[in-house]
Amino acid sequence: MLLKGKTAVITGCNRGIGKAVLEAFVKNGADVFAVIRKENPEFEAYCKKLSEESGREIVPVYADFGREETIKDAVKEIMKTKKPIDVLVNNIGMSNPLSQLAMTKMDIVRETFQVNLFSGLYLTQLISKNMMRNKKGSIIFVSSSAAFDGGANVEYSASKAAVIGAVKRLAIELGNFGIRVNAVAPGLTATDMGNSMSEEDEAIALSMNIMKRKGRPEEIADAVVFLGADMSSFITSQTLRIDGGLR
Ligand SMILES: NC(=O)c1ccc[n+]([C@@H]2O[C@H](COP(=O)([O-])OP(=O)(O)OC[C@H]3O[C@@H](n4cnc5c(N)ncnc54)[C@H](OP(=O)(O)O)[C@@H]3O)[C@@H](O)[C@H]2O)c1
Repeated sequence: MLLKGKTAVITGCNRGIGKAVLEAFVKNGADVFAVIRKENPEFEAYCKKLSEESGREIVPVYADFGREETIKDAVKEIMKTKKPIDVLVNNIGMSNPLSQLAMTKMDIVRETFQVNLFSGLYLTQLISKNMMRNKKGSIIFVSSSAAFDGGANVEYSASKAAVIGAVKRLAIELGNFGIRVNAVAPGLTATDMGNSMSEEDEAIALSMNIMKRKGRPEEIADAVVFLGADMSSFITSQTLRIDGGLR
C-alpha cells in the first residue's frame, strides 16, 4: 500500500505500460483518473471491475493528446472534482516503423513530438498548478532507452531525450513547491509497441541487454509506483533506466 491516500492522473491506461501502471497504483491504494484517447465502454467496464475489486476510485477521462483543447477539457473535468492530485504519470507515446530521417515526412516528426513530449509538458503545466497550491506532488515521465542510444527512429529518440531535459529543468522549477519530477527509461518492453519490431531487429536489440529478454510492463510499473510513493521522497531530477542492463 505504498500509495495509500494518494490520487493520481495516469495517461494511456487502456493498454501496455499505462494499464500496468494503473493496476499497480490501484493495488497500492491510489485513486486514479485514468486517461485514455477516446470513449470506450469496454474500458469503463474494466475500470468498474478493477474499482470493485480494489475498493479504489477509478475515473475514466478522455483526451486525444494530439490536440491541446482536449487535454485542457480533460483537466477541467478532473479539477471539477476538487481532488488534490498527488501523482501525475505522463505515459503515452508513439513510435513509427523503423525508418531513416531522410525518408520521414516532417509531419510525422512533429506528430511524434506532440505525443511524446508536448502533450506531457502541457498536461504537466496544467496539473502542476494544482500541485503547487498543495505544495506537494510527484510527476513521472516515461522516456525510453532510445534517448541514450538512438535505438529507435530519430523523431522517437530525440523526443524521448527531450523528455529527460525537460525533467531536469522541471525538477528545478517545481522543487520549491515540494514537487518531485523524474522519468523512467524502459528498454524493449512486451507491449504492442515493444512487440512491433521485425524478428531480426528484436534479436539484435535483445542481444544488447544483459538479461537477454524484454521487460514486462509490470516491471516498469513497479518503478513508477516507487517514484510516486513517499519512499522516494529525496529523489528528483532523475531518469531511472529499466532496460535489463542495456550496453
Ligand atoms: N514498449 C516499449 O518497448 C517501450 C520502450 C521504451 C519506452 N516506451 C514508452 O512507454 C510508454 C508506453 O508505451 P507502451 O509500450 O505501453 O505502448 P503501447 O502499448 O503502444 O501504448 C501506447 C499508449 O499511448 C496512447 N497514445 C498514443 N498516442 C496517443 C494520442 N494521440 N492520444 C492519446 N493517447 C495516445 C495509446 O492509446 P491508444 O490505445 O488509443 O492508441 C496507448 O494507450 C510510451 O511513452 C513509450 O514510448 C515503450
